[in-house]
Amino acid sequence: MATTSYNSNQQNDQANSKSGRREFLKAGATISAALLAAPALATSNSNGNKEPGASTLSNASTKERTIGSGKWAMKVSALGLGCMGMSYHRSFIPEKKYMITLIRKAVELGVNLFDTAEAYGPWTNEVLVGEALQPVRKQIQICTKFGFNIQNNQLSGLNSKPEQIRKVVENSLKNLRTDYIDLLYQHRVDPNVPIEEVAGTVQQLIKEGKVKHFGLSEANEANIRKAHAVQPLTALQSEYSLMTREPEKDVIPVCEELGIGFIPYSPLSRAFLSGYINQNTTYNPANDNRPSLPRYQPDAIKANWVMIDTLAEFGNQRGLTPAQVALAWLLAYKPFIVPIPGTTKLAHLQENLWAADYEFTQEELKTLTAKLSAIKVVGARYTGVQAEQTKK
Ligand SMILES: NC(=O)c1ccc[n+]([C@@H]2O[C@H](COP(=O)([O-])OP(=O)(O)OC[C@H]3O[C@@H](n4cnc5c(N)ncnc54)[C@H](OP(=O)(O)O)[C@@H]3O)[C@@H](O)[C@H]2O)c1
Repeated sequence: MATTSYNSNQQNDQANSKSGRREFLKAGATISAALLAAPALATSNSNGNKEPGASTLSNASTKERTIGSGKWAMKVSALGLGCMGMSYHRSFIPEKKYMITLIRKAVELGVNLFDTAEAYGPWTNEVLVGEALQPVRKQIQICTKFGFNIQNNQLSGLNSKPEQIRKVVENSLKNLRTDYIDLLYQHRVDPNVPIEEVAGTVQQLIKEGKVKHFGLSEANEANIRKAHAVQPLTALQSEYSLMTREPEKDVIPVCEELGIGFIPYSPLSRAFLSGYINQNTTYNPANDNRPSLPRYQPDAIKANWVMIDTLAEFGNQRGLTPAQVALAWLLAYKPFIVPIPGTTKLAHLQENLWAADYEFTQEELKTLTAKLSAIKVVGARYTGVQAEQTKK
């Protein structure tokens, strides 16, 4: 891992994020009084200056990032909310009314980027997100995805043919109770449909006003370049966390070069980085992909626990949980990174949002990164067809 380049980029990134923060504070008058009344806790020294590394707890609304460039830019909260686990792949499915409350609470807390996909459920997650966000539609931005065939409520292979994209978009608009999708991703690159054709189809949908911005998920550098040449991309979404650092090699650099935002999915490595799951955790295999993934097997969990110990050691001295350190580290990597942790719990939502308030000093980031980078992660993130689909 390129620890050196990471650290050398860090100064600029932090300077950028600090000036962004100043800009946002200037615009503070536009924030509702209710949001400004949120808890604020700053650590100051005797001169009233903020201590290096101190955190200021506030709403996510006080943090804003830009993904994409020029006409294709979106201003978003520093962290979005991944909604998938409220209906799909995370074992239990909580009662819908509680998830609607949670999503609306996230809006109150300043989150304006919500992530779903037709594949989650399928459809039930879009339906949930649509119902939850309908009353606040104009204040927030919804991201959804196309790219699979769905038969008998099961995903059955990839399909990004133009007619399929159009069909999925019409259905997503209904599910989401809206007449436009803020950010439409191709979920996985379809080797049977040239990426230029996919980009051209989304471009048409943008012209028709049904879609505002275009994104890809798990696409490789070559496909990012090809798609971007047809219809500029606003965001690239891929798995990225302290357990999955591969995007640092080529995908994040190409996003930086082309001015594309980067959205880490599973930024807590599906709960592992919070320390909330361990080798004894049991899952509902009918609604959880973790039992099928090597990294969540008991031996891998035990072998990788040193990651949690390292995050806890750093966080314990600073009043941070492992999840907060893991998210703050991603945010510190580049200013165009916007993680979308998923949760079904208000306490976890608030905890995750507060991660955006932590500012590392250069020294602590360097030391922490060196320790984290020295850990050899055990267990692949995907296997078989799923692994193949993330190499395109
Ligand atoms: N593009 C793609 O192919 C793709 C693939 C997967 C996911 N995604 C998107 O990324 C989003 C997030 O990914 P993910 O759900 O796979 O993984 P994640 O965000 O890394 O982890 C979510 C899990 O962590 C737990 N969690 C969250 N915050 C916590 C905290 N502070 N303390 C303890 N546990 C915590 C959640 O459980 P609780 O409910 O108990 O908090 C949940 O089980 C999804 O919702 C989806 O929108 C995209």
